[in-house]
Amino acid sequence: MTDSTKFQAVSAPKGVPDYVPPASATFIAVRDEFARQARRAGYQHIELPVFEDTHLFARGVGESTDVVSKEMYTFADRGDRSVTLRPEGTAGVMRAVIEHNLDRGQLPVKLNYYGPFFRYERPQAGRYRQLQQVGVEAIGVDDPALDAEIIALADRCYRSVGLTGFRLELTSLGDSTCRPAYREKLQKFLFALPLDEETRRRAEINPLRVLDDKREDVREMTADAPLMLDYLSDESREHFETVTGLLEDLQVPFVINKRMVRGLDYYTKTCFEFVHDGLGAQSGIGGGGRYDGLMAQLGGQDLSGIGFGLGVDRTVLALQAEGVTLDGVDRRVDVYGVALGAAAKKALAVLVNDLRAAGISADMAYGDRGLKGAMKGADRANARFALVLGESELESGEVQVKNLAEHSQEAVRLDAVVETLQAVL
Ligand code: HAM
Repeated sequence: MTDSTKFQAVSAPKGVPDYVPPASATFIAVRDEFARQARRAGYQHIELPVFEDTHLFARGVGESTDVVSKEMYTFADRGDRSVTLRPEGTAGVMRAVIEHNLDRGQLPVKLNYYGPFFRYERPQAGRYRQLQQVGVEAIGVDDPALDAEIIALADRCYRSVGLTGFRLELTSLGDSTCRPAYREKLQKFLFALPLDEETRRRAEINPLRVLDDKREDVREMTADAPLMLDYLSDESREHFETVTGLLEDLQVPFVINKRMVRGLDYYTKTCFEFVHDGLGAQSGIGGGGRYDGLMAQLGGQDLSGIGFGLGVDRTVLALQAEGVTLDGVDRRVDVYGVALGAAAKKALAVLVNDLRAAGISADMAYGDRGLKGAMKGADRANARFALVLGESELESGEVQVKNLAEHSQEAVRLDAVVETLQAVL
């Protein structure tokens, strides 16, 4: 019996991207290169749950942030526990570090992670409800040299995929000795302005966030607001000056942005953002900073940490905007086999299998499409070599190896194909 009602095709949820071929190759190449760079700097992979207890984010990221108050995917599971799809990675890393006592060993603990994060934002180009980040966290040491390392690592990540049109913005958000006094000063300034009710409330809970208001009139009113960088404690100032000095030594270009406001509440001291001008409104391709009190706030030791999250989606868009194509992403396989006739197909299947075992990427034509149709498969895969095996080649124990770029071909003995291709690939 068949169901006669046709199922209405379902689309992906709004604002949630699919990563389909061939574009998915660029996505994977960027993500893997970032992770490779992190590993090269001694960061070890940590694989974290995609959902956590809701309290973790409320406490870790901050109740007054848009991320927590408006953008979380929170639901009760079947056991009626409130869980949340992770909107960011830092809180989860801290939870895992505390839970597994990673901070009781050698410090700093250097961890790397990647994967999807979830924010119920208004979708637009470069802003998704499921977004992908590669992140690192270095926990347990408050050494400005570590701030510089992290920032230089992010800079290298972008450059290693060929991105150049970005700028690094830097500031310091101070520490517990200078932040409270600055906060009071900023509030005093803000309360003297004719702000609407909601903005006034925001000024009470988190005054820094008012400096991030995108409305023209609020921007004008706050143009002369006091800025944290001008009120740093001696210790924070020295910390910041050491970081900027080291970045100069490391030849990482940066600009100071005194008005930077990060979207998460845990930041102290060094804060940074990487901005790309080819992306329109969603120009932040990555960001991070130091977080002094976060671990203690989440029930752990009072240790500092610093990290970043690089947006993979926006990096891919930025590469497109710059017209950069990564090496190899337009090639599905290096070798593509075409067989004519059943016996040849059997022999080719063995050959293709041998090539893969020898580490060469290879595919072959399936179905019965004839030589011309099957060769289209080689084109579409953008293969470098095609192997053509017909009845006559099979009889003579040879295969035609076509170099597709050079439009040349030679007959190679079947048992020498792997070796021949290994030498040229
Ligand atoms: P974040 O600035 O909220 O930081 O996010 C990092 C990056 O993720 C952004 O710069 C952006 O490229 C990307 N991103 C964020 N939201 C979206 C979205 N809706 N669509 C596409 N891309 C997006 C953090 O998440 C911190 N956990 C980073 C960090 C680690 N700080 C310290 N350690």
